[in-house]
Amino acid sequence: MRECYFVVDGGVPLSGVISVGGAKNAVLVELCSLLLFPGRHCLHNVPKLADVTALIELFEELGCSCCWLENGTSLTVDTTQSCLRPLSASVLQSFRASILLLGPLLARFGMAEISYPGGCPIGARPIDFHLKAFERMGAIVEVHGDLLRVIAKKGLHAARLVFEYPSVGATENVLLAAVLTRGTTTIVNAALEPEVLDLIQLLRSMGAVIDLNVPATISVTGALPLRAVEHTVLPDRLEAGTYLAAAAMTGGQIEISNIDPELLDVFLMKLDEMGHTVTLPASGGVVLTGTLSARAVSFITMPYPGFPTDLQAIMSALQICSVGTSKIHESVFENRLVHLGEFQKMGATLSVAGDRTCITGVDRSLLRGAALHGVDIRGAAGLVIAALGVADRSSITGIQHLRRGYDRFEERLQYLGARIQLVEQD
Ligand code: UD1
Repeated sequence: MRECYFVVDGGVPLSGVISVGGAKNAVLVELCSLLLFPGRHCLHNVPKLADVTALIELFEELGCSCCWLENGTSLTVDTTQSCLRPLSASVLQSFRASILLLGPLLARFGMAEISYPGGCPIGARPIDFHLKAFERMGAIVEVHGDLLRVIAKKGLHAARLVFEYPSVGATENVLLAAVLTRGTTTIVNAALEPEVLDLIQLLRSMGAVIDLNVPATISVTGALPLRAVEHTVLPDRLEAGTYLAAAAMTGGQIEISNIDPELLDVFLMKLDEMGHTVTLPASGGVVLTGTLSARAVSFITMPYPGFPTDLQAIMSALQICSVGTSKIHESVFENRLVHLGEFQKMGATLSVAGDRTCITGVDRSLLRGAALHGVDIRGAAGLVIAALGVADRSSITGIQHLRRGYDRFEERLQYLGARIQLVEQD
């Protein structure tokens, strides 16, 4: 099998202006939402990610036809012929968001059958909230080994659903099912990530009636007439955060022209606390001017609008050569600190205890390049950022994980001046 890895020669300050693609965590669920109404839909600003390709494969198995337009970022999705068919287990298991097919298929066909979803190994990642919610809406859940069958022969019914934690995926799955369910379904303690709000915007354009109330409650009035949609996926705040961190790590200056800075409030506040300069041009976007003598900061990951768990690995990379000690608590996923062991290969001084770490920054001249291995999307990106900050050569394997979440990753970095090369080996 062909192995790909990056070779990074770090120590070069990044500079330039880039834009980011559509948000991975929005586009996947938005594609799934198109199954709710059989018609010809169009999504704009769709990133070419491995997870998007996998979902398109599943759509084709379901009888849909998907076609990229000439601009390379618009995708038409014709769900007119969609029907219930067995789906490839290997594709379903290649990414987490395949679970989001359950809601629309169950609500539309009265049954859904999928293999247990895969995705990044960042924790146990149970799906009990999804399944309990469907049961409360009248579905029967059967588990046969890896196969999950959810049945609602007489259809689902509206319910008041209370989540003990604001799960992004469970909120989205139930939201999708509720759009086709008669009555008003209420989700209490719902996730309100920007990607969930973007999905709500799409569903409203499709004809759904969805209200947001405090505290964190979503109400869906279902079974109303729907129509085909055209929607532009919001820009990826997590991709933007990754490149901003790369600029900070290298003491560079970059602008991301198409990101709403308010979606990165806490992250930008932490960069500012470190001594990096964040400026917000009147024309929109964010400019980050990095310093090579940044101060360490501590943080805890939380649901939006708290510090995003997806930027934890990215932000922790910046701490390995900052002045002082950083305490990080990963409170969302219990196993999302694996990348830290790789930082140690570079000479970072840190300790890990369960879901917490303490990193004491060392002078970057004492850090060295190393052979690093990523095991999840953001962890792999965090390793590249660490490598960019050290004036030495590193290699990074496991980039198939990174491809699930970043479109043209090394091209964008090269454009900003980074010395990063993709090596392909048989
Ligand atoms: C989504 C994002 C992921 C992000 C995460 C948190 C997508 C495709 N992925 O993942 O990038 O890091 O939100 O912002 O959008 N939980 C349960 N039972 C459940 C569901 C979740 O206990 O049924 C727990 C999880 O184990 C985790 C926490 O809830 O500890 C948050 O998970 P959740 O918000 O559901 O994350 P995902 O939707 O999987």
